[in-house]
Amino acid sequence: MDSSAAASVSAAPAGAGVTSVAVAMARALESARPDRMFHDPYAQGFVDAAKDVLEPGEWPSLEAWVDLFYSRGVVRTRFIDDYVCEAVAAGCRQVVILGAGLDARAFRLPVPDADVYEVDTPSVFGFKDAVLAAAGAQPTARSRTAVRADLREDFAARLAGHAFDPARPTAWVAEGVLPYLTGEQARKVVGDVGRLSAPGSRLVFEHSDKAGPDPRAKDAALSTPGADRISAMVRGGLGPEGRDWVASQGWSLHVTDRGELGARYGRPDKRLPGGQFVTATRV
Ligand SMILES: C[S@@+](CC[C@H](N)C(=O)[O-])C[C@H]1O[C@@H](n2cnc3c(N)ncnc32)[C@H](O)[C@@H]1O
Repeated sequence: MDSSAAASVSAAPAGAGVTSVAVAMARALESARPDRMFHDPYAQGFVDAAKDVLEPGEWPSLEAWVDLFYSRGVVRTRFIDDYVCEAVAAGCRQVVILGAGLDARAFRLPVPDADVYEVDTPSVFGFKDAVLAAAGAQPTARSRTAVRADLREDFAARLAGHAFDPARPTAWVAEGVLPYLTGEQARKVVGDVGRLSAPGSRLVFEHSDKAGPDPRAKDAALSTPGADRISAMVRGGLGPEGRDWVASQGWSLHVTDRGELGARYGRPDKRLPGGQFVTATRV
């Protein structure tokens, strides 16, 4: 595997897809640290390839975003890495990553019993798969399937068209994607997830008790040149009632405080409190 091979890409992920590059930037930085919390050998390749094809002005916007959200992004990555491995070990042999972006878990986590489905837009996969191919990436999962779908439309039908089996317990990942949907769209996605979830299935998502984008984060983003371009794409997702609403939809919840998690990982950061990671199990 040569993750530094130059990829031939003609366009960066479009629309909200560009935000996936920011998360890859955070993962690349983290992976280079001696005290790293995880290692993503593909993240830097995504960043290098994107830098060449981003629209003018996008690169500084993404850098500004990473400055603000680095801790949150890497703590979240580590937490969800562990969540996926534990869920697979507990019998969820299907993993569906919603709004997968440049998530390379299917190529880096030790889950040889799992079939991983990644859902995102065609422009994201056009970019991602070219970079992964140049790096010679091979799945560490049993299989990895790219499902080109818009979550605002019928992603469930697209999944079914790729041999996804709702009778098998599934681990769902909604990492950094629901905020790009309106409340109605996000509830529709989570409702469909519930309908496709056999007993024992799991779901992870991030929750904030504050309405809309975190006000402190929003203030910081708006006062950071360029970062507001990214903030402007946020629609709010499940919102402050989202966690309790999910609990009312046939899920049993476990809540992990983001600030406490940062401290547990040896990375306390004053920007982490105010949010939670919610892991839900289908009852
Ligand atoms: C901030 S990135 C997060 C990517 C990845 N989950 C991670 O944490 O690295 C948001 C991702 O959600 C995807 N996304 C946003 N709205 C979407 C939609 N309506 N349908 C499919 N994907 C969407 C974007 O294309 C982008 O890849």
